[in-house]
Amino acid sequence: MQIHDISLENPVISAPLAGISDRAFREIARVHGCGLLCSEMLSSMALVYQNRKTLNMMSFSELEKPISIQIAGWRSDIMAEAAKIIESFGADIIDINAGCSVRKVLQNYEGAHLLRDFPRAREIIKSVVKAVNIPVTLKMRKIWSGSYDETLNFAKMAEEEGIKAITIHGRTPLQQFSGKADWEIIKFLKSNLSVPVIGNGDIKTPADAISLMKMSGCDGIMIGRASMGNPWIFSRIIAGIKGQKVPFGPDITERIDTALKHFRLLIEYKGEFIGVRQMRKHLAWYIKGLKGATRLREKIFNLNDYNSLVNIMIEYRDKYNEQENKIICRS
Ligand SMILES: Cc1cc2nc3c(=O)[nH]c(=O)nc-3n(C[C@H](O)[C@H](O)[C@H](O)COP(=O)(O)O)c2cc1C
Repeated sequence: MQIHDISLENPVISAPLAGISDRAFREIARVHGCGLLCSEMLSSMALVYQNRKTLNMMSFSELEKPISIQIAGWRSDIMAEAAKIIESFGADIIDINAGCSVRKVLQNYEGAHLLRDFPRAREIIKSVVKAVNIPVTLKMRKIWSGSYDETLNFAKMAEEEGIKAITIHGRTPLQQFSGKADWEIIKFLKSNLSVPVIGNGDIKTPADAISLMKMSGCDGIMIGRASMGNPWIFSRIIAGIKGQKVPFGPDITERIDTALKHFRLLIEYKGEFIGVRQMRKHLAWYIKGLKGATRLREKIFNLNDYNSLVNIMIEYRDKYNEQENKIICRS
């Protein structure tokens, strides 16, 4: 897949996930083959005012390239300034957030609010595109009314103003995450736009990815929730869309070892205090569905230091394997 002058090794893209898709998460996703990594949404205002935490959130490594950094904002001048900062840090793509429907974001006239305000959205897109030389993309939802034609009008406006790819999540802002994502809107945009269209929403398995690509003809697919604690989704989907045999999911050893690798990266980038607190939810996702996961999760949420968490994960892994071996030996 190609986004303007950026070639992706494959069309499988990891979604921007606030509070989740940080550098550690993205590096793990890249190791599992993900074609394009996206940062979590960054506030354009915070970037321009050099907020240290936000600047840290923008940092990325060579391993992560190509990488797209997402910004949210309501002022075109600030969005343009933020875009310049991101470009100067060496990012490959800038993504404009027109899809976030969290109340706090909407109250600031940002995210999906832009879908209600064509003139402002146009002004923002125009200013950001003009400010940088790297490709600018847009992530949007279905328009508030749910109308296909209005959604297309918005996307066409973005295309006219120089947006180089559009990600569409097939839900309206009012729907948040309820119901099922509408993949027909992805097909509708794909058949009416010239820029690449990336389909998003409810892709949970390689079979989902294959069927969305087939039915919509979309150029790329973006995976969000299904990748939490599950970076294997990327390699499995890539194999699936290439027509190769889809590998089985990971065994317990691989799951825990990958979780621990993720943990080490998080500690390296954010330090122990923050790393431990942020890793608890990731660990819970990594063990989801495993025997004894509920009890382990309770323990995880009561531990506050790196070594205790690592020990409990290793102990769990070894005990699990021991029990499995016993079952195999007995049968
Ligand atoms: C916890 C969480 C955080 C999210 N953060 C962002 C964000 O920062 N920017 C954005 O454009 N979308 C964000 N989204 C939306 C996702 O990128 C994606 O569009 C949505 O989850 C649908 O895809 P999925 O069904 O594969 O999860 C977020 C979603 C979740 C669940």
